[in-house]
Amino acid sequence: MAKIINGEIGQFVPWYDTDGNEINVSDGGIIYVDGVYHWYGMQLRDLPARGGGQGGQTTLTGVAMYASTDLEHWRYEGIILSCVNEPGHELCGPMRFERPKIIYNAKTKKFVLWYHYVGYPGDHGFTEGTAEAGVAVCDTVNGAYQWQGHCRPIDEKGLVRDNTVYQDRDGSAYYIYDRQVGDDRCLHIVKLSEDYLSFTKEYRRLDVAFWREAAAVVYRNGYYYMITSDLTSWAFNQAKYFRAKALFGPWEDMGDPCVGDEDQKTFHSQTTFIFKVEGRDDLYIHMAERHNTESFLHCSYIWLPIDFHDDDTLSLTYQKEWTI
Ligand code: DGJ
Repeated sequence: MAKIINGEIGQFVPWYDTDGNEINVSDGGIIYVDGVYHWYGMQLRDLPARGGGQGGQTTLTGVAMYASTDLEHWRYEGIILSCVNEPGHELCGPMRFERPKIIYNAKTKKFVLWYHYVGYPGDHGFTEGTAEAGVAVCDTVNGAYQWQGHCRPIDEKGLVRDNTVYQDRDGSAYYIYDRQVGDDRCLHIVKLSEDYLSFTKEYRRLDVAFWREAAAVVYRNGYYYMITSDLTSWAFNQAKYFRAKALFGPWEDMGDPCVGDEDQKTFHSQTTFIFKVEGRDDLYIHMAERHNTESFLHCSYIWLPIDFHDDDTLSLTYQKEWTI
């Protein structure tokens, strides 16, 4: 039984690893392999966001991972995709491996890690190397991942902003991202190649998901669900979810999933990932992050069970603490 402590809405609650250090895995996800949950994300710095200071939204180290068998006790596994601290190197920090997501390719027997790549100095921008999709690959889940480069899906003019990856039940996988062309920002879904290391030409623009980011996808009982945020930089905003019978759509706008969310700010958090608890028929956890723009080391993690209803809708209700 794992105890999840989210704290009061607005409160920053540290989660600690088994060495007593604060868990630091920004905007990542969870992958379950051979009885072990692996939780990973970008390792941030103890600094404010660049707008108010020195760039705590960036990393000097890379993507970190923790392991647990019970979802409560997390052992630090180290950096699985590392920055390369040589000036001029494409992985030289401060930079961003933003919203990293790992999937396993059963055909190639490789773990594949996609992320939104933002090169040095790690600020969002419009030039090459500031708005791209990056990929790395590894034989084992916990590293070391080998960087394979970065590029833009669909075409060069579409900047990559927030991204996620979704692996479907038939083994096909999809890169989902907020594509920006000037003022036009809209979620797009692109099918990955069989080895998951590149993009195919099959894609859809999800018009219904205009001006949305922070997407996470889950499938249940005949429907795909995609939970997203609005687009207000680090400021918390109102979540919205979409539902579809097929990944390429059509997707329906289902509104805000948050129940009793008084100021409509997703309980002061932003979606990062959804995962299923193994061995439990119907327990899916919505992972979100409460960004701490004063010190990015002290962001906090907000985990809530997703409530699915008989009419194939879903909702999220805040719980200060709960037990899995
Ligand atoms: C919102 C995104 O979801 C975050 O990951 C981050 O990119 C911020 N925007 C930066 O402003």
